[in-house]
Formats: sequence, C-alpha cells, structure tokens
Amino acid sequence: MILVTGGTGYIGSHTVVELLNNGYDVVIVDNLSNSKEMVVDRIEAITKRRPIFINGDIRDREILDEIFTNFDISCVINFAGLKAVGESVIKPLEYYQNNITGAVTLLEAMRDHKVYNFIFSSSATVYGDPVSVPVDETFKIGGTTNPYGTTKLFIEQILQDLYKAEPKFNIAILRYFNPIGAHPSGLIGEDPNGIPNNLAPYITQVMIGKRDHLNIFGKDYDTEDGTCIRDYIHVCDLAYGHVLAIKKLMENPGVVIYNLGTGKGSSVLDVLHAFEKAYGKEIKHEFVGRREGDITANYTKVDKAFKELGFKAKYNIDDMARDQWNWQKKNPNGYEE
Ligand code: NAD
Ligand code: UD1
Repeated sequence: MILVTGGTGYIGSHTVVELLNNGYDVVIVDNLSNSKEMVVDRIEAITKRRPIFINGDIRDREILDEIFTNFDISCVINFAGLKAVGESVIKPLEYYQNNITGAVTLLEAMRDHKVYNFIFSSSATVYGDPVSVPVDETFKIGGTTNPYGTTKLFIEQILQDLYKAEPKFNIAILRYFNPIGAHPSGLIGEDPNGIPNNLAPYITQVMIGKRDHLNIFGKDYDTEDGTCIRDYIHVCDLAYGHVLAIKKLMENPGVVIYNLGTGKGSSVLDVLHAFEKAYGKEIKHEFVGRREGDITANYTKVDKAFKELGFKAKYNIDDMARDQWNWQKKNPNGYEE
C-alpha cells in the first residue's frame, strides 16, 4: 500500500490515479488546506477504484502513527506542502513550519514504523538561476529566491543527512519542471484559489471569461521571441514518473535524484498559442514588465530519468493545453459545485 500525502491536490490526485491504474492500493492523507474531498469521488469515477482518504495533517504525529499501524505501507510519496511562491515571501514561517516540520514529522514516523521508501516532490526551483540550459541533476543547487524554494532545498538536504545516518532509507528526490494540463477525462485538474499565479491556469481563466486578459511578464528576455522559456510537462506524464520511481526504490538505490520534464523548452507565447489552438480563437493578452524573481530559461536534460527510470514524456504542449482547457470548461469553478 502506498501512502500519498497531499493526495487530493493537483499533482497528488493525478498520481493516485496512475497508482490505482497500475494496481497499487492507496491511502491518502490530506488536511484539505488546498484541495477538496470531492477529488476522491472523481478519482474513483476515473479508475473505478476508491483510495482510502484520511483528513489529517502530516505534522500530526498521532494520525501518522495510526496510519502506519493500521496499513501496511511500503512507500510514502510526500506531496503535502504549501506552494505559492509570493505567499511564501509574506509568510515565511508558515512555509517553513508546514513544509519542513511536515516532512520531518513524516520521516520520524516512517523511521519509527520501519517504513523506508520515500519519494519527495522537489522542484526545478532548487537550481536557482542555472548557469546554462538544459540543466541536469549534477548542476549546483542553491540560490533560491523565495522561502518556498528554500523549503525544497532544505528538505533535500535533510533527506541526504537522513540517508547518511540511516542507510536503510531509499529516497527518490523528484525535481519537477512546470506541470500543467489535466487528466483527459476532465474530472480532475488544478483548482487554484483566487487569482492564479501560474501561467496555464491564468490563461484558462481568461478563456472561461473570469479574467479579462493575460499579462505576459516581459518581452525583452534574451530568447527567440523575448518571453521566458520553461519546460512544461503534462501532469499525467509527471504522475506516471512516480510509478516508475516506486519501482526504482524497490532496487534499494539509496538516494536518487531525477529531473522530471520533457526536455523541451517552450516560451510563454508558445504556451499561449497552444491554448489558442485548443480554443479555436485568439486569447486576449498584453505585455507588461518582468515579474520579480523570474529567470530567462529553465528546461531539463532527460537522459538520466530515461536511462534509470525509463521515463519519457508522451504529451506535448498542445495536449497539455487541450486537456487543461477541457478541465476548465467542464469545471468552470473548479471543484466548487
Ligand atoms: P497542491 O496544493 O494542489 O497539493 C498539495 C496538497 O497538500 C493539498 O491538497 C493540500 O491540502 C495538502 N497539504 C498541504 N499541507 C499539508 C499538511 N501539512 N498536511 C496534509 N496535507 C497538506 O499542490 P501541487 O501542485 O499538487 O503540488 C504538490 C507538491 O509538488 C508540493 O509539495 C509542491 O511544492 C510540489 N511542486 C509543485 C509544482 C507545481 O508547479 N505545481 C512544481 C514543483 C513542485
Ligand atoms: C513558478 C515558481 C516556481 C514554482 C512553480 C510552480 C516563481 C518565480 N517561480 O515557476 O518556484 O516551482 O511556479 O508553482 O514564481 N507568466 C506570465 N503571466 C502570468 C503568469 C506567468 O507571463 O500571468 C510567465 C512567467 O513570467 C514565466 C512563465 O509564464 O515566464 C511561467 O510562469 P509560472 O507558471 O508562474 O511558473 P514559473 O515561474 O516557472
């Protein structure tokens, strides 16, 4: 049985679908701070299997003890965490408390219950502003520009230190690039609170009429069309990467680190055009100044994940745009009825 913390969230829910479809049993623990319990019904509608859902916080040791006592957990995937970059600058202590205390409490419970396989949701943000692109897993990490990113960096270090002390642990650190898109069923997807900070949900809110237009942050970057380059990856591809990571952990590899992306950089305008293709018309947009903290380009080399995990993204940005638009159209207010 796999314990998925944060399993009703965006990436967690898609991963639970892949796990169930690949024959794993799943327990979700989520405190619903950024998701809805209805997601569990949607997961069941897609997979015809229902994960066990526990409404709880990963900082609550009693709940974790109950879970590890009652279920035979072979691996833990830790998605639970706060992830809004801007908010983390305003509320650093909340971010350190939730993300770091959460991870440490979870790892203590795992150690005490002799559960040693752990997968951690890290981020490409740990590379800071990379010296060159594409980045690979040997690039130096550090230079994060906000507390959210720093929680990822610190937790990676904690995991390395833990492994040194307790080599029974097998740990996969997965550094996600930019997950977008939604399950092709349109039943689950990203449901941001308030005004979206990230590009894709902002675009679909313009498409659905909730926002007037997209502001494109900067048109004078040193790229072909002047807008920033990122490695957008379909959330279902990313989710499947976790199934492959579980298999890898069964080989007792110690600590392993993989970048998960497509290996292809796309500009903001490329993404906008992919959504316009899905929409069948133009999407209103304006160029504004650069957003503080944005870097020119970040995309990954895919060789290591391919060679060691067999990971290869199937979907391109047109697929991502089509599926995210499908989700938004079918759920104009996200999971709100
Ligand atoms: P999300 O907010 O949709 O999911 C996180 C889930 O964790 C939510 O359902 C929330 O309710 C839950 N949660 C938060 N704190 C908790 C706690 N203390 N105890 C129990 N549950 C808690 O976010 P997501 O986009 O699915 O991201 C999942 C993970 O991947 C996060 O750790 C995030 O930092 C990381 N990540 C995300 C991205 C991205 O672009 N979405 C990129 C890189 C890394
Ligand atoms: C951001 C975070 C990163 C985090 C990731 C996933 C920053 C600096 N980085 O990455 O740490 O891991 O989200 O949560 O916040 N854009 C627009 N208009 C918009 C929104 C975005 O032009 O309204 C542009 C941005 O300038 C960027 C690109 O679209 O070039 C992607 O932005 P976004 O989706 O926020 O992702 P990142 O900035 O890559």
